[in-house]
Amino acid sequence: MIVLTVTFSNFMEKFKNGHYIFSGQDTLELAKRYGTPLYVMSQDIIEEQIKRLKNALDLTETPYKIYYAGKSFLNKGMCYLIDNLDLYLDTVSGGEMFTALEANFPPEKIAFHGSNKTEAELRMALENSIGLIIVDSLTELDQLNKLGDEFNKKIPVLIRVNPGVEAHTHELINTGTTDSKFGISIPEVEEILDNFKNYSNLKLAGFHCHIGSQIIEEKPFLIAAKKVLKLFKRAAENKLTPIELDLGGGFGIAYTKEEINFIPENYIPRLVSALKVEAEKLGIDLPVLSFEPGRFISAPAGITLYTIGVIKEIPDTRIYLSVDGGLMDNPRPGLYNANYDAVICNREITEENKKSVRISGRACESDQLIDQIELADPREGDILAVLKTGAYNYSMASNYNRLPRPAVVLLYNGQSDILVERETYEDLTRKD
Ligand code: LLP
Repeated sequence: MIVLTVTFSNFMEKFKNGHYIFSGQDTLELAKRYGTPLYVMSQDIIEEQIKRLKNALDLTETPYKIYYAGKSFLNKGMCYLIDNLDLYLDTVSGGEMFTALEANFPPEKIAFHGSNKTEAELRMALENSIGLIIVDSLTELDQLNKLGDEFNKKIPVLIRVNPGVEAHTHELINTGTTDSKFGISIPEVEEILDNFKNYSNLKLAGFHCHIGSQIIEEKPFLIAAKKVLKLFKRAAENKLTPIELDLGGGFGIAYTKEEINFIPENYIPRLVSALKVEAEKLGIDLPVLSFEPGRFISAPAGITLYTIGVIKEIPDTRIYLSVDGGLMDNPRPGLYNANYDAVICNREITEENKKSVRISGRACESDQLIDQIELADPREGDILAVLKTGAYNYSMASNYNRLPRPAVVLLYNGQSDILVERETYEDLTRKD
């Protein structure tokens, strides 16, 4: 077995002339040019993460598909980028589909997910010839079959299987256990396969499972994959010909130095050989393997720049440092106790200048971005970069306290440009 050595070039903190450099660019210049708070995304890192996945999969010499999970970070610019990098796209709402279609993302390369899709969304998918619909429930199976009549179409679907597997991640992002709103249980799927003639307007393209997000262990993935693979045999016994096994997303990343990265370069060869053995045992061909990484691609590619405002020192207690953003641009610490690392962009940390602080947001409640961290003697007006904020920050941002959402800037080829404009006060009242 080949175990690749992986270099995490994006995980190194680099300073040049006392300025923090992210993806080759001076963060202080970015803050000055675009203002703060500011989401910064690096095209180089997005490409590097995708290349890592593709390289690992190419080595297995097995047909595969990579869908980028748009929920982690999506806008029209990101759709162009993902299309140029030849990936498929996982969407989970009418809004995500609309964004992709507006960006001219090829509809046949879009997959549409969701545990409670509306009829309007299903119609939108059919009207726009979206490539695949991932059916999440018995209700949806019937609903879609009926729509097939109306659209006079044989609709390609994947069935989302709930494999009953514990992924050992935060309960809010654990999706593969039996006690979950997601997916159809294995016995129910078997029954569907035995009676698939009742769904004459559906074409069974394969099966899907997604057991959760921010997963570090390989084992739950392997257990789930093997369980779902068995369904291909049951399908074959019913003269059905599914070809795709979509194993969802979920590859975890290390947000801080204390956390562990999931290494797809190690996992993918192990997964493929385990599935090859299993397929042989079952007497079936190995299906096309699909993956839907979101966080793995977008999280390390992003940082958020803030300006430090009030610094409050409470004797014998702690130092509170407040920034010009907070739970509205990053709700993850509050929701999932998520950890982050951060650096002062205009001062390099040394043994002598490091100070332990709590980083608070500016919301009208005790929002906290980082519980405790050592920073280089932080002062009012300094620029702070919170690292690895590329996933589920911009996409989960809100206007809480009527604060406009930050701009998103893309770094590419040594240049930078606005990917999404900063919201204005007028944007806030537009729909009032
Ligand atoms: N595929 C499906 C069907 C999913 O539900 C998800 C994530 C993904 C792929 C992508 O998973 P990823 O590779 O990004 O782990 N808001 C939470 C994460 C929720 C993930 C929901 N589904 C967070 O901030 O951690």
